[in-house]
Amino acid sequence: MLTVRIVVGGRDLLDVARNIIGRYMPGFRYAEAAVMDGWASVAVAMVGEEAVGAEVFYGLPARPYSMCVHYYVATAEGWRRRGIASALVAHVEGICGAQLYLATTRLDNEPAMRLFTSLGYDAVSWDELPRGLADVLLRATCGYDDDVLLAKPSKLLDALLDADHAEIARFHRRECYAVWRATRGLA
Ligand SMILES: CC(C)(COP(=O)(O)OP(=O)(O)OC[C@H]1O[C@@H](n2cnc3c(N)ncnc32)[C@H](O)[C@@H]1OP(=O)(O)O)[C@@H](O)C(=O)NCCC(=O)NCCS
Repeated sequence: MLTVRIVVGGRDLLDVARNIIGRYMPGFRYAEAAVMDGWASVAVAMVGEEAVGAEVFYGLPARPYSMCVHYYVATAEGWRRRGIASALVAHVEGICGAQLYLATTRLDNEPAMRLFTSLGYDAVSWDELPRGLADVLLRATCGYDDDVLLAKPSKLLDALLDADHAEIARFHRRECYAVWRATRGLA
């Protein structure tokens, strides 16, 4: 049985996270911006002295609900299928203590789809959601490059339409739209 230790921090763990997540996920610059701004945190999975997996996550209050987004998660090749990502996601849930947990991925990313569904997340494609709700959730997750939302518990999603969207709008403006513009050389 593998003993996995999870370390949580912010900018101090960004290099470690980049070395793992950045290798597999080209969009890591979004996570990087959110961590540098102090919005998102980093969880690193350690086996002995080796960093073998990492996750970037953030909380988002949307009164009356608190949400927590698993922004980017990856396990180093060679360490996969040994429960590392499951341990990270479960640990982050414990830290966030939110009412609603979200992640996004692509339908053809079977490992990610299975990882989250095995932990009780429901997969919903953006097309299945009412337009207004999809807009709110796209802003909250910056999940524009993905086609599937993973939510736990998904029964809370509908109530988000009537929630307070101020923090979601702030996150979207600063960490999603601004980074998207910067990557295209727009001021
Ligand atoms: C997705 C990813 C993070 C999973 O990491 P992991 O440490 O291997 O995940 P776990 O060992 O905790 O797997 C948990 C469950 O997910 C499913 N799963 C994980 N990898 C799988 C694969 N390649 N094929 C099918 N199911 C898989 C299984 O149900 C697994 O449980 P099991 O091994 O008991 O059957 C890893 O494959 C990865 O880093 N991929 C590249 C980055 C990425 O796509 N991240 C997800 C973005 S949302």
